Amino acid sequence: PNKKILLLPGDGIGPEVMAEAQRVIDWLTRAGRVRFEIAEDLVGGASIDAHGRPITDAVIARALEADAVLFGAVGGPQWDAQGFDNRPEIAILELRKRLGLFANLRPAPVFDALIDASPLKPEIVRGLDIMIVREAIGGIYFGEPRGIETLPDGGRRGVNTEVYTTGEIERVARVAFELARKRSGRVTSVEKANVMESGLLWRQTVTALGAAEYPDIHLSHMYADNCAMQLAKNPRQFDVIVTGNLFGDILSDLASMLTGSLGMLPSATLGAADGEGRRHALYEPIHGSAPDIAGKGLANPLAQILSFAMLLRYSFDMQEDAALVERAVSAVLSSGMRTADILQAGTAKIGTRTMGDAVLRE
Ligand code: NAI
Ligand code: MG
Repeated sequence: PNKKILLLPGDGIGPEVMAEAQRVIDWLTRAGRVRFEIAEDLVGGASIDAHGRPITDAVIARALEADAVLFGAVGGPQWDAQGFDNRPEIAILELRKRLGLFANLRPAPVFDALIDASPLKPEIVRGLDIMIVREAIGGIYFGEPRGIETLPDGGRRGVNTEVYTTGEIERVARVAFELARKRSGRVTSVEKANVMESGLLWRQTVTALGAAEYPDIHLSHMYADNCAMQLAKNPRQFDVIVTGNLFGDILSDLASMLTGSLGMLPSATLGAADGEGRRHALYEPIHGSAPDIAGKGLANPLAQILSFAMLLRYSFDMQEDAALVERAVSAVLSSGMRTADILQAGTAKIGTRTMGDAVLRE
C-alpha cells in the first residue's frame, strides 16, 4: 500500500513554505523515487475560521490514520483573542497528546556555507551537529496539581508540578540511545538532579537503562544550567542531548540560535513504535507562522523542506532520499542563495519560490 502523508500547512507563512516542500515531494514522485498518498487539511487559525476549533476530531482521525504528518506553523494576531484553550497553538498540543508523540527531535546542524551566520566564532561551531531529544508530553507543562489560587490574605499562588515516571523517562531515553548508535555513540542526559526529585529520578533511570541495554553508548550527565553555559562555550562537546520538556524547550532554542537561522531548522516528534516498528510521527519547522512577513513571499522554505527530509529518514527509513534532499539544501546554500532571515552580511536576498526553485534544480 502507498504510504500516507497528511499535510497540515496552518497559518501565516505555513502554507507558503509547505508549497515548496510539496514541490520537492512532487519532484521525487515524478523521478519515480517515492509513491505517497498525500492528503491536506486545516489546522490552527485556519481551522478556527472554518470550524471554530484549532483542530477537529476529523483531522485528528486523519492524522492517526496517516503514516506521517507534515505540519507547517500555526498562529497569528487575528486569533489572539481566542482564549487559552482555543488558541491556534492548541492544535500542536492536541496532536502530540492524541498521537502519543513524546520524543521531540531538534537537530541543530551548522552548514559550512552559513558558518559566519552563527553568533559564535567559526572555530567553535565548524562542523557542529547537535541533536536534542526533548520529552514532549510530560513534565512541568502538564503535571498536576496546577492552577492559580487565591490565598486567605488576598494574595494569589500559581502552581505547576514537574512529574516524571520511570516509564516516561525510559521511552524518551531509548529514542536518544538509538539515535546515538547511528551517530557518534555519545549521549548527554540533562536535568537538575541536585535540586529536583524528578531530576534525580531522571538521572537514576537513564543511568540504569544505559547500563542494562546500551553499554556501547558513552553516557554522561549534566545539570541544565551548566548545559546552557557549555552550549554557548563549547557546543561541539555534544552529540545527542536528552532532557525533559522544560529544559528541552529552552536548550533547543539556544542550540538553534548557534546555527544562525530559525528558517533553516526542522524537527520531528515521534511516538512509540508498535510491533511492526510503525510509529506515529509529526514533522515541522521550529519557526512559527511569522505574521510579520506572511503573504510577502519572503519566508525561508528550507526548514519545511528539511522537515520533509526528516520524515523520509525517520518514518520511512528512506535514507538515500533524505540525504538527497539534504545535499540539495547544502548545495543551494553553498551557491550563495540566502533568504532574508539568514543572519549573514553582504548576500543578496531571494524569496520563497526562488529558494524552492534552487532546491529543485540541485
Ligand atoms: P516566528 O518563528 O513566527 O517568528 C520569529 C521571527 O523569525 C520573525 O521575525 C519571523 O519573520 C522570522 N521567521 C520565522 N520563520 C521564518 C522563515 N521560515 N523565514 C524567514 N523568517 C522567518 O515566532 P513568533 O513571532 O514568536 O510567533 C509568531 C506566531 O507563530 C505566534 O502566533 C506564535 O504563537 C506562533 N508560533 C507557532 C509555532 C508552531 O506552529 N509550531 C512555533 C512558534 C510560534
Ligand atoms: Mg520553544
